[in-house]
Amino acid sequence: MRVLGIESSCDECAAAVVEDGSRILSDVVATQIPFHEKYQGVVPEIASRKHSEWIYGVVEQALAEARLGPGDIDGVAATSRPGLIGSLLVGLCFAKGFAWAIDKPLVGVNHILAHLYASRLEAGPSAAPAEDVATAGPPMEYPFIGLLVSGGHSIICKVSDFDEIEVLGTTIDDAVGEAFDKVSKHYGFGYPGGAAIDKLAQGGDDTAFAFPVPYLHKGEHRYDLSYSGLKTACVRQLELFRRPGAESTPANIAASFQKAAIDLLVSRLLRAVEDTGLRRVVAGGGVAANSYLRRSLAAHSDIELRFPPLRLCGDNGAMVAGIACKYLERGESSGLDCGVSARVPIFRRLQA
Ligand code: KG4
Ligand code: ZN
Repeated sequence: MRVLGIESSCDECAAAVVEDGSRILSDVVATQIPFHEKYQGVVPEIASRKHSEWIYGVVEQALAEARLGPGDIDGVAATSRPGLIGSLLVGLCFAKGFAWAIDKPLVGVNHILAHLYASRLEAGPSAAPAEDVATAGPPMEYPFIGLLVSGGHSIICKVSDFDEIEVLGTTIDDAVGEAFDKVSKHYGFGYPGGAAIDKLAQGGDDTAFAFPVPYLHKGEHRYDLSYSGLKTACVRQLELFRRPGAESTPANIAASFQKAAIDLLVSRLLRAVEDTGLRRVVAGGGVAANSYLRRSLAAHSDIELRFPPLRLCGDNGAMVAGIACKYLERGESSGLDCGVSARVPIFRRLQA
């Protein structure tokens, strides 16, 4: 079964063809980064206009690279939630028209579930750099602990199937990627912020600043995260946390911030692993590309780990096509009246 997947929830205009839920036949990502860079953030109006301009060409290229015509496609999928409304509409409406024209089923996909599916795609030999060997492998057996970390979400969950998750913990304020982006914007480290801080941190001393760790109640908030305090400390009270003798260089700020942000994530994740006894962890989302996060988790040799290859951590059409195959295999699809939504209700929270 070959599925065309379209992703346009934010600033990447992407389309891919995936066969049988795993084999990537093509994967095209047209990034809008240069158009949003001068604003140091995604401007929704610009994003949706660029998607409208580009979507036809991106899908055309995805079909061409897969060496397929529209008639070879068995189903069409697009991200329908959560995301920027105008941007989501462009991808979903295009997918509806395409599905209707070829008389094949449509699948509206949840972006969060798609990120958690990304590591199940066959990476191909060129996609796994040497340092990723510990985190690559065959699709993880269900159930496992999922770590979904992006610009809009930070979720630690129990994943029982491709469409079944129970949230154990989430951020009570900013998402982790958002904190990277805001710190980077404040200091002018580069855009997008996550990748810029990751790179800058490589030459820095991560003990230069001892940023505060959020105190969240145990019990109900045992696995929850919080990033607004760390962000404020880093941006407004930097000198308060400087170790005597350490220098306030960009690399030191980046390395210390990154360590604080990721150590928190890892500590909550490890709690979930210990408490549930599920020693299998699957990560996804843009922040899953973070090299310090990948190294920190790979050091836990008693935990089986899967990260998507770097190019599948951020937004892409392959994860959308891949998870849509699973719905179609079950005989499930969406009606042509399927809508978009900016937010999704928090998934069912497991009682602590
Ligand atoms: O999944 P994604 O592409 O879009 C959303 O669904 O939000 O994630 C984007 C987020 C941004 O906040 C970006 O700064 C962050 O992922 N990111 C990173 C890295 N690469 C991207 N954060 C930390 N380290 C990275 N290497
Ligand atoms: Zn995303």
